[in-house]
Amino acid sequence: MKIVKRLLTLSIIAAMLISCMACKKKTQESYSYEKDLIVVGYVQVGAESDWRRANTLSFENTFTEENGYKLLLADGQQKTENQIEAIRYFIQQDVDYIVLAPNVETGWEGILMETKEAGIPVILTDRQIKVSDDSLYVCWVGGNFEKEGKDAGRWLADYLEKQGRADEIINIVTLQGTIGSSPQVGRTRGFAAVMAEHPNWRMLDMQSGEFTQSKGQEVMEGFLKRFDDIDVVIAENDNMAFGAIDAIKAAGLDPGDDIIIVSFDAVRAAFEAMIAGDLNVSVECNPLHGPRVAEIIQRLERGEEVDKIQYVDEGIFPAETAAELIGTRPY
Ligand code: AHR
Repeated sequence: MKIVKRLLTLSIIAAMLISCMACKKKTQESYSYEKDLIVVGYVQVGAESDWRRANTLSFENTFTEENGYKLLLADGQQKTENQIEAIRYFIQQDVDYIVLAPNVETGWEGILMETKEAGIPVILTDRQIKVSDDSLYVCWVGGNFEKEGKDAGRWLADYLEKQGRADEIINIVTLQGTIGSSPQVGRTRGFAAVMAEHPNWRMLDMQSGEFTQSKGQEVMEGFLKRFDDIDVVIAENDNMAFGAIDAIKAAGLDPGDDIIIVSFDAVRAAFEAMIAGDLNVSVECNPLHGPRVAEIIQRLERGEEVDKIQYVDEGIFPAETAAELIGTRPY
């Protein structure tokens, strides 16, 4: 069964890439595209959330032939081993750049040694990795997840204060993202740092909803069966918050009122949920990395230096701002 699954995954990656392979023609020494295009292999995490779909679209809209690129896209289906297979495939295809949004932080050393040996620059985007040798990648661009977690905690402290609940016992549950992914690690750590300043906040439980709406709903249903006094849900992305909202409504409670819902990403549907009164705040995580990565590639093409770590600016969007700002949201 495992072998069948693996073959299936490989054939999906191969099918995704096959049209691009057909564009290639062999010259005497190397492969090149008919037009002088820069070939970029993007190893995406999956399609687990609205954020992820906006991120993929950002790359598709940026890395077009009109802009001088050939984009090869591999969907890792939220599995690190699929992403490693895709990187190996891109090495075989001798792409010009590999862009990697790593599923989790660990497990990359071996495959990045292979990209280094092949002389293919790797640009990390969105999530970060832990490696002993940071020359294995050129640079990283993405959001500051730990800051996002702190922003969420500080917003909650301020909100409780305004409600006159600053000294109450506050029972919290957390729907975590994919365990070991940098948004999960950073948001959990950042929120915990603020929580340490509030001894009356109690974390009843934390479980992974894997960044998906369906799993978020399932985990929230479990929390509601076990605890009858939940004050706050921290959902480590909007889609898990949407699942939690459905579970809370099904339990006969009013999300956003009976239970405060805090989430991350600030996708358009989160603004709709805030306008409906179901979600209290969404801390932004900006997915529009396509143009940022293109800028990095252009600099590298010109032989310029790039900053190793590049954080993007992100905001905090409480429910009371949602109606005014929804029209301005680009994703
Ligand atoms: O890595 C970014 C996170 O991954 C986003 O918060 C989430 O929605 C996505 O799946």
